[in-house]
Amino acid sequence: MSKQLILALSKGRILDETLPLLADAGIAPIEDLGKSRKLLFDTNLPDVKLVIIRATDVPTYVQLGAADLGVAGKDVLLEHGAEGLYEPLDLEIARCKLMTAGVTGQLPALARRRVATKFVNVARRYYAEQGIQAEVIKLYGAMELAPLMNLADEIVDIVDTGNTLRANGMEPRELIAHISTRLVVNKAAMTMKHDRIKPLLARLESAVKKRQAQFAE
Ligand code: ATP
Ligand code: PRP
Repeated sequence: MSKQLILALSKGRILDETLPLLADAGIAPIEDLGKSRKLLFDTNLPDVKLVIIRATDVPTYVQLGAADLGVAGKDVLLEHGAEGLYEPLDLEIARCKLMTAGVTGQLPALARRRVATKFVNVARRYYAEQGIQAEVIKLYGAMELAPLMNLADEIVDIVDTGNTLRANGMEPRELIAHISTRLVVNKAAMTMKHDRIKPLLARLESAVKKRQAQFAE
């Protein structure tokens, strides 16, 4: 196993909050990520590289060892299953909730419920645990539209401010999980590259604490 470290970062909203934490931990890309069409980036450390990929692909890269470490939302990890990964650090960014939601004022369907979501595994698990029969319908975005269009009775989606739900005549119902962004590590890499990964974890943990302290001020 090469001693090079590959970090898989989720593009999109998490990236902007991840980069300052990485910089604080001593890792910075040597070019402006926003100005490049590249997907694999060198950093200031010769043996550390970054790949910038879809959030949902991060657990796959890390699980299969194409990346040693990754940064992904807990929602993505729950949906993926994230077997073969360690999850040693909560980066405490992009906090939100995974919830069920429905049309405001409408009672949840008692019989078989049609549920639209991109989190199909999470939804199936959740409704089974609740003893609720659910027909889970896979969507790739704009879940809030599904009940309006009578495609579904309920959705499972990320809720932060609740503005998206409100704007579409919907309200949150049940909490499924509190979500934040996690650092994940390939299990084999954790053993084989322990001497490289351990200090990086310690520096990232300090960066997280520093950020938390700044917010508390
Ligand atoms: P993709 O575009 O690849 O399908 P995505 O739209 O889920 O992915 P983002 O919207 O960038 O990607 O969200 C990345 C992560 O940020 C999510 O996995 C979740 O953990 C978190 N997140 C999503 N929406 C919010 C929100 N409104 N507030 C806070 N955190 C959020
Ligand atoms: C996310 C999520 C919700 C919304 C919730 O969407 O899918 O729609 O945020 O946030 P709120 O409760 O503060 O309104 P995002 O803005 O990432 O758009 P996308 O899923 O289409 O990428």
